[in-house]
Amino acid sequence: MTNARITVTAALPYANGPLHIGHIAGAYLPADIFVRYQRQQKRDIIFMSGSDEHGAAIMLRAKKEGISPREIIDKYHEQNKETFERFGISFDMYHRTSEPIHHQTSQEFFTTLYEKGEFTEQESEQYYDEEYQQFLADRYITGTCPVCGHPEAYGDQCENCGSSLSPTDLINPKSTLSGKTPVLKPTKHWYLPLDKYQPWLEEWLLKGKQGKWKPNVYGQCSSWLKAGLQPRAMTRDLDWGVDVPLPNTEGKKLYVWLDAPIGYISATKQWAQDNEKDWELYWKQQADEADNARLIHFIGKDNIVFHCIIFPAILHTHGEYILPENVPANEFLNLEGRKLSTSRNWAVWLHEYLDELPDKQDELRYTLCSIMPENKDSEFTWKDYQAKNNNELVAILGNFVNRTLVLTQKYFNGVVPPCHELQSIDEEVLHKLEDIPQKLATAIESFNFREAQNYMMELARTGNKYLADTEPWKAIKEDEKRVATILNISLQITASLSVVCQPFLPFTAQRLQQMLNFQSVNWNEAGKNNLLATEHTLEKPALLFQKVEDEWVEQQVAKLHQDDELTIDDLEPIAKFAPMKEEITYDDFVKLDMRVATILTAEKVKKSKKLLKMTLDTGLDQRTVLSGIAQHYEPEAIIGKQVCVLVNLAPRKMMGIESQGMILMAEDTDGKLLFIQPEGKIDDGSGIS
Ligand code: 2FM
Ligand code: ZN
Repeated sequence: MTNARITVTAALPYANGPLHIGHIAGAYLPADIFVRYQRQQKRDIIFMSGSDEHGAAIMLRAKKEGISPREIIDKYHEQNKETFERFGISFDMYHRTSEPIHHQTSQEFFTTLYEKGEFTEQESEQYYDEEYQQFLADRYITGTCPVCGHPEAYGDQCENCGSSLSPTDLINPKSTLSGKTPVLKPTKHWYLPLDKYQPWLEEWLLKGKQGKWKPNVYGQCSSWLKAGLQPRAMTRDLDWGVDVPLPNTEGKKLYVWLDAPIGYISATKQWAQDNEKDWELYWKQQADEADNARLIHFIGKDNIVFHCIIFPAILHTHGEYILPENVPANEFLNLEGRKLSTSRNWAVWLHEYLDELPDKQDELRYTLCSIMPENKDSEFTWKDYQAKNNNELVAILGNFVNRTLVLTQKYFNGVVPPCHELQSIDEEVLHKLEDIPQKLATAIESFNFREAQNYMMELARTGNKYLADTEPWKAIKEDEKRVATILNISLQITASLSVVCQPFLPFTAQRLQQMLNFQSVNWNEAGKNNLLATEHTLEKPALLFQKVEDEWVEQQVAKLHQDDELTIDDLEPIAKFAPMKEEITYDDFVKLDMRVATILTAEKVKKSKKLLKMTLDTGLDQRTVLSGIAQHYEPEAIIGKQVCVLVNLAPRKMMGIESQGMILMAEDTDGKLLFIQPEGKIDDGSGIS
């Protein structure tokens, strides 16, 4: 793998919200590790990403916040760009799909395919919201998934079972604009005939499989192929996006999944303009095939079809472009036993972490790399973060480096001592020093980042064991020459560590090199036994990592649950439904006193995103009940509703207010909550059994 150029892309996140650790573990951290390593190998590599600023995701957010799409993208583009920078994700360009250069590039693509006669023009019936007088983007329609029965599937995809859908597949479709059932109306669009490309795609993907694409990626593609590819519309009836470059197409825009991946190309164009480079070297086929750049897309698993089927089909049909050599997509990261959820605030937000711990990027990078969902979903917990920090970063890497540097200060005034005669233990450790960087490199080249980071830690562990076995603090009493050799070797290991940890722990690498008074960003130097010359003077050492205390971990977990008192259980479990609870007796059941009650008043609880405070008429009395439903119901909309209430539950205080009972709710796997209500009007106080 020594091609001259490598083009690396990381999925363009929608500029409709902040970044969380799931985004990072999915695409950006593996991409950054890969790119940093390749830069150390002195390869000609570019790292492109940016904000995806079109599509219904942006419009829905704008609608929710009551501001324009432009305001949304400006806000989140800046925020996300800055967050990536603070976290050390080292893009060469973090671009925007709202930029004119991107609109032009995507329109050129569309026009080329159009002029080649590739698109089929089809009139079809599409959902239309009569109240809002507009066609509905796929994401503006929700309904029941025909595959798994999930009641909140979107018109393009069911997020519960991952099925890719068309709006007309949904059972009981509803417009998210008006909440009404949309009607079908004819409209014209331009379709990419994916069915026509299927034979070519099959052959090309098979080569990818043989070229060692990850089984999760190839598997998803082959199930698409097995189902048979269908033509896909490349235009949409929308008023936000890239204009369709054809006459009489008002009210139509390019499909966001046509323009978004082209964003990688427009980002490269912008980077090339800014840096006087030739973008075509990174994207176009060269006269000699061996001179083509290697194209690698880092994405999360929900983007596989777009990067492995649709975008390659577009690049291939265009004719002048290279195709991805690999798409090392990751699976999903869960958090503390639940699926990450933006809407339910079940996430570790990266900007919040960085605000609290502005110089602890590497501690999070290390943990996320060690649990990266490379082949299957994985889980982040704060306890695990603590364990990785305390037992690995502090106890192994930090401890080895600190002991080496402190002992060198103590016995040799911070000057690198000479290496004298070697014993077999020294030769063994030097052999490992030489060996580990190679293994690490192979792991990175094959996208096994967890394994690669383990090799980095193995080098530190080797150093630690070497110090424990040779005990320089004892040997100093009778043999200073021996200690000089031990510390020289330990310092060479430390210097190599400062090189090989750069892809994973770039901030630590820098601090370590400052302490060593040494600079190297060259991978070829890793593993050498003479990186620090005898007589070289070191700087004063400082601790690289600090222990994380239990109390802090508890605070982080509590923060996740902060306004969640009643709804800890309403977060989406990883399993589809929670397993059945333990059996109870009839006597247990009849202890529950459940009644029909009417909601008399409802208001939001200050400083809580989730709680509503209600007064209920239970037929027995009027009482206050708190419920974690503020994200599901507007207070005004529920006054007068009859609900079911458990009235003999012991009172509980939440946010300083006593709640006297619990309203019964039904919850789906997506965390959606609905009241359980009597079928018709019935007296308040009626018993439920
Ligand atoms: O899933 C997403 O967040 C998309 N915005 C990813 C786009 S990746 C690329 F195609 F631009
Ligand atoms: Zn489904």
